[in-house]
Amino acid sequence: MSKKVLVLPGDGIGPEIVAAAETVLNAVNERFSLGLEITHGLIGGSAIDETGEPLPKATLDAAKRSDAILLGAVGGPKWDALPMASRPEKGLLGIRSELALFGNLRPAILYPQLAEASSLKPEVVSGLDILIVRELTGGIYFGQPRGIETTESGERRGFNTYVYTESEIRRIAHLAFQAAQKRQGRLCSVDKANVLEVTVLWREIVDEVAHSYPDVEVSHMYVDNAAMQLVRAPKQFDVMVTGNMFGDILSDAAAMLTGSIGMLPSASLDENGRGMYEPCHGSAPDIAGQDKANPLATILSVAMMLRYSLESQAAAEAIEAAVINVLEQGLRTADIASEGTTVVGTNAMGQAVLQALNS
Ligand code: IPM
Ligand code: MG
Repeated sequence: MSKKVLVLPGDGIGPEIVAAAETVLNAVNERFSLGLEITHGLIGGSAIDETGEPLPKATLDAAKRSDAILLGAVGGPKWDALPMASRPEKGLLGIRSELALFGNLRPAILYPQLAEASSLKPEVVSGLDILIVRELTGGIYFGQPRGIETTESGERRGFNTYVYTESEIRRIAHLAFQAAQKRQGRLCSVDKANVLEVTVLWREIVDEVAHSYPDVEVSHMYVDNAAMQLVRAPKQFDVMVTGNMFGDILSDAAAMLTGSIGMLPSASLDENGRGMYEPCHGSAPDIAGQDKANPLATILSVAMMLRYSLESQAAAEAIEAAVINVLEQGLRTADIASEGTTVVGTNAMGQAVLQALNS
């Protein structure tokens, strides 16, 4: 049976970067005879504009029927004034939650060609290869109760709930340990167990799961220290596992080590390997529609999709090699440009990857 891919371009730069990535996906589909069936849907602000909802039922239904989803980005100033429950971001959080995509893999790799683009010294980041495993469907992002209420004194009070059950911690821990087994065998769990009970439990469960993986060396770090270590000596990390909010923050920090957040792909997996693939960056409304955005994170997300959900390792490797080839040629979008390189737009970067793929 042919595998189904749902493409959700979203908002801002989403449509541009997804268009570039889709030409690459179409090319490998043909070249490796993958027989993928590719359809499109609405999500985020563009879905609000057309249907009134950030996650229309048609999109969710199509997503449930798909083996993999490629997503651009959601959100923008146009929808910022909407109440929290109907903002574009709810579409993204909704699809993550509805599809139970609890395991978010965010690899931060420094391509040697981009050492100059990193905000850290080349010797601090050269050879960097970190995998951040972020829990994606729980924690403070989804905890109840939440809201803004008016107290008896007439003052308003905002509140969220940081909560994890044992089973939620256990399944993300297993995913992270298994990822570490396939890499250097080192896992650092990030928490705030000196202050937050929920992460005291997190630490306890990670240690319990560790017994099943004696070949993985486990360590624990408080999130404030982890943020500092990421910019001080990032190469000490192999795999990091953490909750939803800490993972959101640390992955942006890790992204800058690689030169640009425009380079960071991600995979969000359910228990059965179905996944949604998206760049870690946002919709960048300031450069939307200007052919300036870096499509490489989205193109690399396609590679992750082929590897994790579509069982096509060869196609994944071909895309990754093509990206390296293009960087080697000195082609750069503005976010990763440095002296002596050639700045190209979104479309041209996509075409260059396509050409490298076919060469
Ligand atoms: C990310 C983004 C999202 C998140 C936003 C857009 C809701 O920052 O994927 O990292 O916070 O998870
Ligand atoms: Mg984020």
